[in-house]
Amino acid sequence: MSETLAVEARNVYKVFGRKPQEAVRRLRDGAARTELAGLGTAAVIDASLSVRRGEIFVVMGLSGSGKSTLIRLLNGLLEPTAGEVRVMGEPITGVPAKRLREVRRRHISMVFQHFALLPHRTVLDNIAYGLEVQGAPAAERRARATEVLQLVGLDGWGDKLPSELSGGMQQRVGIARALAADTDVLLMDEAFSALDPLIRREMQEQLIELQASLGKTIVFITHDLNEAMFLGDRIAVMRDGRIVQTGTPEEILTDPATDYVASFVQDVDRARVLTAASVMEPARALVTVAGGPRAAMRTMRDLQTSAALVVGQGRRLLGAVRDRDVMRQVREGRGDLSEVIRDDVAVVSRDDVLSELVEPSVGSALPLAVVDGQQRLLGVIPRVTLLAALGNVSSDTMEIPVVVEPPATVPVDAMTTVLRETAPDSPDVPAVEREEVRA
Ligand SMILES: Nc1ncnc2c1ncn2[C@@H]1O[C@H](COP(=O)(O)OP(=O)(O)OP(=O)(O)O)[C@@H](O)[C@H]1O
Ligand SMILES: [Mg+2]
Repeated sequence: MSETLAVEARNVYKVFGRKPQEAVRRLRDGAARTELAGLGTAAVIDASLSVRRGEIFVVMGLSGSGKSTLIRLLNGLLEPTAGEVRVMGEPITGVPAKRLREVRRRHISMVFQHFALLPHRTVLDNIAYGLEVQGAPAAERRARATEVLQLVGLDGWGDKLPSELSGGMQQRVGIARALAADTDVLLMDEAFSALDPLIRREMQEQLIELQASLGKTIVFITHDLNEAMFLGDRIAVMRDGRIVQTGTPEEILTDPATDYVASFVQDVDRARVLTAASVMEPARALVTVAGGPRAAMRTMRDLQTSAALVVGQGRRLLGAVRDRDVMRQVREGRGDLSEVIRDDVAVVSRDDVLSELVEPSVGSALPLAVVDGQQRLLGVIPRVTLLAALGNVSSDTMEIPVVVEPPATVPVDAMTTVLRETAPDSPDVPAVEREEVRA
């Protein structure tokens, strides 16, 4: 049992019906879900998952795929037909009812789709309700409820009745109520599905903020793939009771485990999911400032490109140089490449999503340079690559070279001539340095 896991399910089955154990036996022997006639309905089949502490784990699937059943198994509302569930390291399968209640009270709160607020209680009392059940004194309940009311942005609404609030605000009350209990794990079943799209996006953003500031573990259920992609640190995709793939949004988009997942993710707005790091390529037209103009020119000649990125110590990106400028330097016998470095490279961060890359890409003749927090060059994104990624077409299918450098503006022969004439006997750039550039 790992310390870092908040929720764990191991080979969990849930069959509703007359002969659940027999159904599980058949399923284990390879029977399909549809071959259980008379035995029962297999809602969850052989599901395993490990939710890490502090992550937003999304369970996604179409209606009837078993999501709600799975979440009820995770919070102990349902006993699995087979398999085992642990929450914050404590088993909740096969434990006495009193123990189960205790684990649930300490560790788990739920947020439901239809808010499930008590209509005749004020907002504040709704939030405090869970604490009341736990037996907390009135003053403490009120203080805690007021605190979380603020947290979800409902300051000043505590004395209203739920019916006086909009849907989005009511769901904030639902979230506040779950937060008031101060459990480690929040289980949310289609919590935003009843909300208008704009409100829904706002709530998603707020949930991410809350999660980041409070560090809760959230298991979020949705049938909406875009919501899953937006919220999830990781996503489990369910189909007909089985988890068919678990992975980060990017893994699921770029490497779907089955045709089913592939067809599912087809319509995803990848521009908002895929990051620069996931589509970047190694920079080929890359030189070190220490290598000097001659090495730079040789690299550009070999690649027949008009420009190269320049890095300094520790791969820190300094800018770009043009073939003309470098050729002039070589011809004039000047040895400091930094004289001609320009800063007209469009630089993006590894975590930027593709939709943020379009504008810088259009405004730049060079591929986008992808850097980390220390401005170290990680890779490049040529415009064709970006377009291919956005168009959901692999660059292979488009039959275009993976890396497209801007074509040389100086004839390649001219470069060779200049290189030869200016220093026929000068040693080539040490091989070590060229290797370093490629590393
Ligand atoms: N208490 C129950 N008794 C019998 N069958 C059930 C029960 N609960 C769920 N099922 C069946 O189990 C399957 C999975 O249902 P579940 O509600 O878990 O799906 P879901 O993914 O949450 O769907 P939705 O998106 O519609 O909420 C369905 O075929 C459903 O009819
Ligand atoms: Mg459901």
